[in-house]
Amino acid sequence: MSTTPSRGMWSSRAGFILAAAGSAVGLGNIWGFPTQVGQGGGAAFVVVYLACILLICAPIMAGEIALGRRTRLSPVGSFAALAPGTRWWLAGGLGVLAGVGILSFYSVIAGWAVAYVWFTATGAVTGSPEDIGRFFAEFTGNGVLSAGLALFVIVTTAAVLLGGVRAGIERVTKALMPLLVLLMIGLAVRAVTLPGAGAGLAYYLSPDLTRLADITVFTSALGQAFFSLSLGMGCILTYGSYFPRQDGIASSALWIVALDTSIALLAGFIIFPVGFSIAGFDPTTSGPGLIFTVLPRLFAELPGGQLFGGGFFLLLSVAALTSTISLLEVPVSHCVDALRWSRTKAVCAVAALIFVLSIPSALGNGAVALFTAVPGFGIGFLDLMVNAWNEFALPIGGCLTAIFIGRIWGVGGALDELRAEGAWFPAPALWTFLIRWICPAAIALILLVTLASML
Ligand code: PFF
Repeated sequence: MSTTPSRGMWSSRAGFILAAAGSAVGLGNIWGFPTQVGQGGGAAFVVVYLACILLICAPIMAGEIALGRRTRLSPVGSFAALAPGTRWWLAGGLGVLAGVGILSFYSVIAGWAVAYVWFTATGAVTGSPEDIGRFFAEFTGNGVLSAGLALFVIVTTAAVLLGGVRAGIERVTKALMPLLVLLMIGLAVRAVTLPGAGAGLAYYLSPDLTRLADITVFTSALGQAFFSLSLGMGCILTYGSYFPRQDGIASSALWIVALDTSIALLAGFIIFPVGFSIAGFDPTTSGPGLIFTVLPRLFAELPGGQLFGGGFFLLLSVAALTSTISLLEVPVSHCVDALRWSRTKAVCAVAALIFVLSIPSALGNGAVALFTAVPGFGIGFLDLMVNAWNEFALPIGGCLTAIFIGRIWGVGGALDELRAEGAWFPAPALWTFLIRWICPAAIALILLVTLASML
């Protein structure tokens, strides 16, 4: 299949790895992972999460890249090209919807991170843990401000996308990700030496296996793994469509998985020691505000804390931006490929739609808990969005992708692509077994048991 002329190409394998890792590393690692570990009961969640990454997500990651590279199309086109005349294109369509849906709440949290650059750098969030918590509640209670910040994030993302694939995405990612990792390592070293840090490390690292009886641990770990790796919605597939044919897919996929997982684990080494150093801290009840209420405590303990705090939230905002870019890329490249829109028109139209959809999440976290009157929905709208997209849409998309690769496209075709030009591909028999059996069955089982437990 030929390459669409307007399609960019990554300059190198390293460029692809950095850009895909830029997509993967974002709020999911630093905001989402600790929040989910907190709510999911600590180390037991971490164990299930790592199992999901290795057995389910890593094989799907390689498959998604191969699918994108073989067809050189965005998700809907990829599925349609390899299974013409069927409804498989709908699996790609789900990804396009997920891109829009996820970005609608992601932009709100990213907007908070942007605001905290200012708040921490100017020393506005200091004082007792109660003061810091109250500050966050008041800030997010102002829905108009949250919506304005989300708009800022969406407009910035749209501006970067209009710069083109290589120029826009690669440049930003290459420069700043190493800095984020270094700063996080420094913060983790300080965090684990705080008084009370031991209890945090125990919560994070010694699993309470009785938690494994709770299906929600599996559902949220699976959803978080897909979300963190940007899988199950054709994002990595779309990035794979710009991947040069002479480069190896398996080694790139492993790099992305390893980088993303290490950064998520590192975030836990910061949040839990600091959290447990605060008297009365309860990780299970912190919700989406966890990092915003815990981290300022750490910055208060550091000499030059305002500088570190501002720097941290700045780098987090950039990490979030490289993820929002990839989220917006999925619906935009769909409109360009399928509807033949110009890139500018697609970016502007999709960004405007996402802003409108972000408004309920901006309003629905703090003071205005929507749906409180509906039984089972006594949570903020934002939580509802996180659960719906991460825990259902992405795993469903991942399950469909695995079935498609394993049984419709066929592992033969996929393996040809994975091993093109003699590329290194370890254990093809294991990969085949995982993609054909384990991935679809495990995801389906977790989703079905979850649905049954909700009835
Ligand atoms: N992986 C990103 C994060 O962890 O923040 C979020 C994300 C980006 C999810 C792109 C899905 C996606 F397609």
